[in-house]
Amino acid sequence: MLDAALRAGVVLEHSCKTGRCGSCKTQLHGGSSIPLVDEIGLSQAEREAGWILTCARCATSDVQLDVEDLGGIKVYPAKTLPCRIQSLERLGADVLRVILRLPPNQQLDYHPGQYIDVIGKGGLRRSYSLANASAAEKLLELHIRAVSGGAMSEYWFGQAKVNDLLRLNGPLGTFFLRNVVGLDLVFLATGTGMAPVKAMLEGIDSLSPECRPRSVSVYWGARAPGDLYWDVSSVGAAHRYTPVLSRAGRGWSGAQGHVQEVLMASQPNLSETVVYACGSDAMIHSAKEMLLKAGLPERWFLSDAFVCSAVS
Ligand SMILES: Cc1cc2nc3c(=O)[nH]c(=O)nc-3n(C[C@H](O)[C@H](O)[C@H](O)COP(=O)(O)OP(=O)(O)OC[C@H]3O[C@@H](n4cnc5c(N)ncnc54)[C@H](O)[C@@H]3O)c2cc1C
Ligand code: FES
Repeated sequence: MLDAALRAGVVLEHSCKTGRCGSCKTQLHGGSSIPLVDEIGLSQAEREAGWILTCARCATSDVQLDVEDLGGIKVYPAKTLPCRIQSLERLGADVLRVILRLPPNQQLDYHPGQYIDVIGKGGLRRSYSLANASAAEKLLELHIRAVSGGAMSEYWFGQAKVNDLLRLNGPLGTFFLRNVVGLDLVFLATGTGMAPVKAMLEGIDSLSPECRPRSVSVYWGARAPGDLYWDVSSVGAAHRYTPVLSRAGRGWSGAQGHVQEVLMASQPNLSETVVYACGSDAMIHSAKEMLLKAGLPERWFLSDAFVCSAVS
């Protein structure tokens, strides 16, 4: 259903496209559908209440869906392009910055926050968020974390070299800024969930003043100081940055615990707040539950869960 809608130019909320993250959750207001894969991203209660995942289902009749109107946001159709590795750089013990280069005659338009699928040898396909706001220079930046025993991790961290030829498909996902004028914009990130946040911070920089949010705060969670692999203050857009460690050692005087707890302690009033959360599924689930209970409207919690992107 999601693919059919996108092909017809109707943009439905989505992220993983594999039934795992729950971003494409909706209710049918008419018609019928059948699941093609297990809807892992739905809880038992949600299944019983009639929620479905559009990325996991096929319509068996005309259907009516309850979806958010993305308004005037133009969503660029995904395309498949060849690309080469321009550079590989270790940003931390288990994080690599990969710059991909597009062919001179190709362009990739996208919104900061979106991701691409990288297609490697033998058709191995994995999703990675774009960490730069635009590919104006024909370059795309990815932040890639090593997953132990992971097929694509093995390639990136063991075999990849400059000038390797790959393919990409994108842009994908709806994790991009909506109308945030006059609102307090909060980014919650864990690990390489910082990649799309970096792109969005760069994007805010190029917005005209009347289109900007009232304030921007970034909470970046990691285990140890060495996992905070990038200098968040180096991006121009004015923002308040709070690094948060879950396993802080002696000598750490900053925030400790989980990003959502630190957000609640410092900004308890969420009535004019929109939250963009990106990174581990565990953080996103727990943050959503906590913030919705505290009064954040569900439509103002947007997320991109870095769930396993292998197609099963
Ligand atoms: C929308 C989206 C955007 C993403 N963006 C990024 C990004 O910017 N940077 C980044 O580093 N990763 C990102 N990911 C995760 C990435 O796509 C891969 O899933 C991940 O890198 C593992 O791939 P692999 O081939 O190395 O491991 P696989 O061979 O796919 O898996 C190996 C084992 O690890 C488990 N596993 C796989 N992925 C994860 C995971 N994310 N967390 C925990 N366990 C896992 C699998 O279940 C399996 O047991 C994103 C995922 C999604 C869905
Ligand atoms: S569950 Fe459908 S997009 Fe993730």
